[in-house]
Amino acid sequence: MDTKLFQMKETIDESELKAVAKMLQAGETVAFPTETVYGLGANATDEAAVQKIFQAKGRPSDNPLIVHVASKEDLYALTTDLPAYVDALIDHFSPGPITYVLADAGKVAPTVTAGLSTVGVRIPNHPVALAILQATKLPLAAPSANRSGRPSPTEAAHVATDLMGKIGALVDGGTTDVGIESTVLDCTGEFPLILRPGAITADDIARIAGACHTYEIEGEADKPKSPGMKYVHYAPEVPLILVGRERLSETIAHYQEKAQRIGLLYESEAFARVDLAKKRHIGQGEGEIAQALYRHLRAFSKADVDVLICEYPSLAKGHAILDRLERAATEII
Ligand code: TXA
Ligand code: MG
Repeated sequence: MDTKLFQMKETIDESELKAVAKMLQAGETVAFPTETVYGLGANATDEAAVQKIFQAKGRPSDNPLIVHVASKEDLYALTTDLPAYVDALIDHFSPGPITYVLADAGKVAPTVTAGLSTVGVRIPNHPVALAILQATKLPLAAPSANRSGRPSPTEAAHVATDLMGKIGALVDGGTTDVGIESTVLDCTGEFPLILRPGAITADDIARIAGACHTYEIEGEADKPKSPGMKYVHYAPEVPLILVGRERLSETIAHYQEKAQRIGLLYESEAFARVDLAKKRHIGQGEGEIAQALYRHLRAFSKADVDVLICEYPSLAKGHAILDRLERAATEII
């Protein structure tokens, strides 16, 4: 397949926007930027179009997709039986990096929800994503635009590496702001429950909804989680060893003894002086770490290193960045 490229980094050209909308309306797949990561979009009401997403990504069919819409009204049209707290959450956080899991009104294709009775919907906060949604006048199913299992793409080049030739088009909107995927919030119960942590935290949500549950709260641990949570995720090309600061030096020494080519992703400045060819600083502060995390993970390739050692960043337990790193890790020391 010939993947068409569109450039919308600085300005959104009306005729190009129309061309993109036409492709989506015709059942093609188009990768586009959101504020979190790039998504691979298709008409959520068209079963054949949605199937193309699963095929291009190599995604297991029991993992439901997030549907993207342009407005609160469009979100309501896809859902039913909303608890009272949802309206306030939407007014406060959307458009933004949060996905609401709600009772499905039956408007989207069956594969989008993987047969569940709920649908995940979000309003992305990115000018290109919103322009495309408004131009198509369609709800767009869009998982992250990576091959299944790989780190999510935060720039168009990442999408090209994973999906070139497998998708209809790629819209380049520059580097994404947030860098990690949206908070996925189950809003079918008395209180919202976080299924996947993101930039919007349980405390942020509790401030608006009165309470917010996480799986760390007693009693929630046995509830079914997001189907996607059981699969390998965010994995770099080489094994990733996640190590606490106090054992970092000995772990590096251990792999050096085995004559392994080591890549290092470090937080403490002390490790800036370690003599390794491939090393990167993870960043300063949670915003910067999240924004660059997948770019870092993608930067260590098999050609250069045998193993990636990553210093466990000093962040609060349950932080979205730790969640992603722990899922990406082959070993945690
Ligand atoms: O920021 C994001 O959310 C990005 C951008 C592109 O919007 N999208 C994204 O999609 O990360 P994806 O498919 O990579 O992750 C969707 C997650 C999966 O863990 C999936 O299982 C969960 O959301 N999910 C989707 N619909 C669900 C539902 N009805 N119930 C429970 N979990 C659901
Ligand atoms: Mg994904």
